[in-house]
Amino acid sequence: MAREVTHEERGPAKLDESDMGDDGMIYVCECGLSNSKPLCDGSHNATTDEEDGVVYKYENDDPDGERREIDAIAYAEE
Ligand code: FES
Repeated sequence: MAREVTHEERGPAKLDESDMGDDGMIYVCECGLSNSKPLCDGSHNATTDEEDGVVYKYENDDPDGERREIDAIAYAEE
């Protein structure tokens, strides 16, 4: 499984001790669906039933949005 996510940021996020959870760890989102990027907010729970070999797109990159399967990505110049 994989998912297509649109990012608009053009630079890094700076993390510090205020980003640590109660356990002293910093959890960085790797699923791309967090509303608190770059930190994990639990949105990855929406991906638990994604199937291997399928690429998904969540409406508005919202984990509660409609989830659709992507068949192919079309490039503008093709
Ligand atoms: S890994 Fe993305 S929200 Fe947790």
